[in-house]
Amino acid sequence: MAVGIFDSGLGGLTVLNAAQKRLPDVDFLYFADSAHAPYGVRDAENIYDLTRSAVRDLWNRGCDLVILACNTASAAALRRMQEEGVPEGKRVLGVFVPLIEALTEREWGDNSPPREVAVKHVALFATPATVSSRAFQRELAFRAIGVDVEAQACGGVVDAIEDGDMILAEALVRSHVDALKRKMPEPQAAILGCTHYPLMAETFQQALGPDVQVFSQGDLVAESLADYLQRHPNMQGEGTGGFLTTGKPDFVSDRATQFLRRQITFEAT
Ligand code: DGL
Repeated sequence: MAVGIFDSGLGGLTVLNAAQKRLPDVDFLYFADSAHAPYGVRDAENIYDLTRSAVRDLWNRGCDLVILACNTASAAALRRMQEEGVPEGKRVLGVFVPLIEALTEREWGDNSPPREVAVKHVALFATPATVSSRAFQRELAFRAIGVDVEAQACGGVVDAIEDGDMILAEALVRSHVDALKRKMPEPQAAILGCTHYPLMAETFQQALGPDVQVFSQGDLVAESLADYLQRHPNMQGEGTGGFLTTGKPDFVSDRATQFLRRQITFEAT
């Protein structure tokens, strides 16, 4: 039995790691579309096509529930896939809502009208495609009023992480934080709106300063998945756990092992 976790590459491992800690008895089948990463510089149509094909693959391998552990795919493909209809017994969920519920101090599924919340100035760091979709602002507007969001498209960070060039990734994060601060000098909270960015969480926090509350998705998504599986225990699927990539398995395995600090072995899709 396995739950599918999808990302364009290695970023979704930050969600997988948290989900495995929260749900040690659940198996996960992780799918990294490394051959096509990064998604964040692609157009919405292309991201939709790639995401749909990977999610179908996971469904076909027996995963009834697939988590898009990728904000870029969630922004460009989730709503469209859900509106077009998913096969009976299958589900696909994204990663935006748990994060926005935490930011706006809401319980799971609280659909009451938008209201004022404590945080007023929010910095959003995400891929160019996620920023231009404005999906984050849309979801926030359903839940909160009076929140000023300044978005910074963090070009290059995902490529550097996928290549294992952490020195470049760090330099890029610092320069994106500087650029954000020129537009919003004193954010109260920062959203790491790409699942790759928690791998650089310390750099974000240092560059932003200790007074900025940094939100990332791993634990929030894991908690919300635990809640979902408690309400839908039959959605654990029939597949078996493991790691799949459309890229070069040895290369991807080395990077993943380095990030999670435990042996991870990817196989080709
Ligand atoms: N980890 C992804 C996200 O959360 C994807 C980034 C990319 O492929 O550009 O947006």
